[in-house]
Amino acid sequence: VSELRALVRTSWFRLALLSVAVQAAVVVFVLAAVYQLTAADVDRRTDAALAAEIDLLADEYARRGLPGLVRVVADRSGSELGSLIYLVATPRGQPVAGNLSHWPADLRADRRPAMLQLADPARDGRAVPVSAIAFTLTGGYRLLVGVARTERVELQRRIETSAAWILGLTLVLGLAGGVLVSRRAMRQVERINGTAARIVAGDLRERVPLAGTGDELDRLARNLNGMLDRIEHLMAGMRQVTDAVAHDMRTPLTRLRTRLERAAAEGGDPDAMRRALEESVEECDRLLAVFRALLGIAEAEAASGEAGFAPVDLGRLAEEIADLYGPAAEEAGISIHLRVPVEPVAVLGSRELLAQAAANLADNAVKHTPRGGRISLAAEPDRGEGPALVVADTGPGIPEADRGRVLQRFVRLDASRGTPGHGLGLSLVEAVARRHGARLVLEDAGPGLRAVLRFPRTGRPPPPPP
Ligand SMILES: Nc1ncnc2c1ncn2[C@@H]1O[C@H](COP(=O)(O)OP(=O)(O)O)[C@@H](O)[C@H]1O
Ligand SMILES: [Mg+2]
Repeated sequence: VSELRALVRTSWFRLALLSVAVQAAVVVFVLAAVYQLTAADVDRRTDAALAAEIDLLADEYARRGLPGLVRVVADRSGSELGSLIYLVATPRGQPVAGNLSHWPADLRADRRPAMLQLADPARDGRAVPVSAIAFTLTGGYRLLVGVARTERVELQRRIETSAAWILGLTLVLGLAGGVLVSRRAMRQVERINGTAARIVAGDLRERVPLAGTGDELDRLARNLNGMLDRIEHLMAGMRQVTDAVAHDMRTPLTRLRTRLERAAAEGGDPDAMRRALEESVEECDRLLAVFRALLGIAEAEAASGEAGFAPVDLGRLAEEIADLYGPAAEEAGISIHLRVPVEPVAVLGSRELLAQAAANLADNAVKHTPRGGRISLAAEPDRGEGPALVVADTGPGIPEADRGRVLQRFVRLDASRGTPGHGLGLSLVEAVARRHGARLVLEDAGPGLRAVLRFPRTGRPPPPPP
């Protein structure tokens, strides 16, 4: 019972009710139209019969006068009230001939069509509607001719019965359908609710089971599951970061602490003391750099929309990065090649973030490319796939299996143990890419790594950079 009450409260049930009401209205309308059309036809036939009867009697009256009329009326009216009704009466209303026992009260003999309700003895004295016309004859005698409208009454009765049946059926079937539909829908919603409750209770791995029907509730369930996947992914990412931060900070902090402790214990030698303090400051700077990088990533990830975006020329950006890393590359025995088209390669974005991302890619390239290698920096105009910034090197590259992993925070490949860094560079590039709706693609440059920052297609030509 409580389930039924809950069902009745659902929006599906209300919708079903509405549709039943509409169907019922249509049924009533159609039957009413049928009745109108048929009744008009029946009326026409009744009127024609009455007119024919009047013609016949008028003819007889004209030829043989009142006695002839009385004879014909007596002939034509049986003892019972048939569908044709006759009455010849004296001026005072005394019946002379006909099948009506008395002159109807308040019927005036003025040749105007009138509607009467006459008791029909053949039908238990029930009232029958009759169309009648009354005439005044010579000497004040009166004549009444009428046609019973039984057919019309019968028709109305039949239509009313059918209407009752059809309406009843529509109602029953409609309500049953409504209950069925809302029960199905409610079950699916209950499944979603149940999953949500279990998730609230703590198990983020719960998913809404799909009914497999592909209807809107199934799509809702699929979207919810997608959302849960994303949340779980983000939570996992957060946990990984917290773990990594804790882990990565512990070593340098412990080192710092030991160094300071030892300096304090040794005392005495001011030179040793100063060296220990200088080393500690360096250690602190490294820690601060890591925090800065983490904050930068978090900031890029948290921001959304195009606030603060301006047209940026990827060509100019590549040139600046090449200038910036030129000296370091030269020192490491690496050549830098710049491939930039004459016309600007404009994208909409944050100049600062894009410069940081490009610098990180260039930094990796310089770090991982052996002496004698080469780095190429390129800006590609939109050729259908969207404009791109490309940084390629001739170093060891990243094995395909690790290309997803290196984008995570603090992930450094074993091969890079010897190089400085905290495994945050590519994470920032990835965050910056996402902030710009761009994709970071790592490819095999055979040999080496090619990092492509592919921006969304511009569609409209972007405004030229200032
Ligand atoms: N150009 C490259 N060639 C080879 N390996 C690379 C290159 N760029 C990045 N990697 C690998 O990806 C890892 C993550 O890079 P990154 O996030 O920039 O961190 P970091 O540079 O601090 O190590 C690096 O440790 C390295 O193993
Ligand atoms: Mg790096």
